[in-house]
Amino acid sequence: MKVLVIGSGGREHALVWKLSQSKRVKKIFCAPGNAGTAEFAENVPIPADDIEAMLKFALKEKIGLTVVGPEAPLVNGIVDEFQKKGLRIFGPNAKAALIEGSKAFSKEVMAAAGVKTAAYKVIVGIDEAQMSLGDFEKAAVKADGLASGKGVFICNSKSEIMGAVNKLLQGKIFGDAGSRIVVEELLEGEEASILAFCDGKNVKLMVSSQDHKRIFDNDKGANTGGMGAYSPAPIVNGLEKKILQKVMLPVMKELAKRGAPYKGVLYAGLMIKGKDFKVLEFNARFGDPETQVVIPRLENDLVDVLEACIDGKLDKIDLKWREGSACCVVLASKGYPGEYEKGKEIQGLANAKAFKDVFVFHAGTKLENGRVLTNGGRVLGVTGLGKSIKEAIANAYTGVSQIDFEGMQFRHDIGKKALGRK
Ligand code: AMP
Ligand code: GLY
Repeated sequence: MKVLVIGSGGREHALVWKLSQSKRVKKIFCAPGNAGTAEFAENVPIPADDIEAMLKFALKEKIGLTVVGPEAPLVNGIVDEFQKKGLRIFGPNAKAALIEGSKAFSKEVMAAAGVKTAAYKVIVGIDEAQMSLGDFEKAAVKADGLASGKGVFICNSKSEIMGAVNKLLQGKIFGDAGSRIVVEELLEGEEASILAFCDGKNVKLMVSSQDHKRIFDNDKGANTGGMGAYSPAPIVNGLEKKILQKVMLPVMKELAKRGAPYKGVLYAGLMIKGKDFKVLEFNARFGDPETQVVIPRLENDLVDVLEACIDGKLDKIDLKWREGSACCVVLASKGYPGEYEKGKEIQGLANAKAFKDVFVFHAGTKLENGRVLTNGGRVLGVTGLGKSIKEAIANAYTGVSQIDFEGMQFRHDIGKKALGRK
């Protein structure tokens, strides 16, 4: 069959790479893709959020399976539009994707499903904020809608809280996405991600992972889309059953009850403290860079798994995972997550890829006259596999040491938290 992957990040490169190993796949398209996806797929210059053009293309090419990477097209109803035309597409429909598209909706679903999460208030106006935020000494202030991962402010005082509330409600820095806000209690602990395949009824957890959101070593500096990840995350060990039974299944049941059965990947961001955890957020898709450490460990044919989700037959699939660990180090442009330059030539890609158990997943890259140039904030993700996390980390950084571009920055401590933990 012909497969279309939507998106252009490291996540999509990892998905394209994995799909290229399926005997069932004859041809892969990636829209818009990057220099890395071009190795396995034909890149198509359609922006990921142009649903109409994507639909036209899929119909023309008779695409047998479309896989959606980023959240925006999901929240904007790409799955609904494809299904109306009889096309098979992996991901939640707009109603179900609201679990990521609206933080207020996500909180409401968690409350109804009995999922443990931070105490919160939904606020729509500045007067309401002044009246009802008195109880919060510290808080996470969040734009309700999608804000490319930038809509969360961690506030450590009353004045910081009101500052963030003002920016969102009056400054409208995220436009309508911030016209309703969620203010919640600050949680303490360590974060981890767990992704699950869902078919509307059944849920199969993937192996755990941990993202590194801050730009600098030791979790310092600004929040980013993610500077690296590793899998499995020992901090999640022993919690899987509880995550399935107290988080994933109740949420699936609640969404089905609301007429929005969830099919696709459900991503739970957890805050873990000891053996207890609370849910920080849900995403309606594969994580980035979590996918770059989880998917290389999946042994099943990905097409079989994705189709089982679409067809409600996930109970027939036995997920198999490669033993050992994976570690992904993100190489970013100078200035990221703020402003950065593009168009710097990347050296050493072939040398890095030549190492056994090293994969180079492209994110913001493009091909120009046979040269690979930087084309985004997060440029590459170098994944190392290993029998242990120590070996996976060493392999990832061996790959990194081969690569260079002007202004390249990366964290030196990806996976460090897992060392010494069972
Ligand atoms: P979210 O998009 O809701 O996951 O928020 C982005 C990031 O902000 C999370 O990954 C956490 O690092 C942080 N964060 C969000 N909510 C909270 C909270 N209630 N307490 C502490 N940190 C939070
Ligand atoms: N790595 C965080 C995310 O994909 O949202």
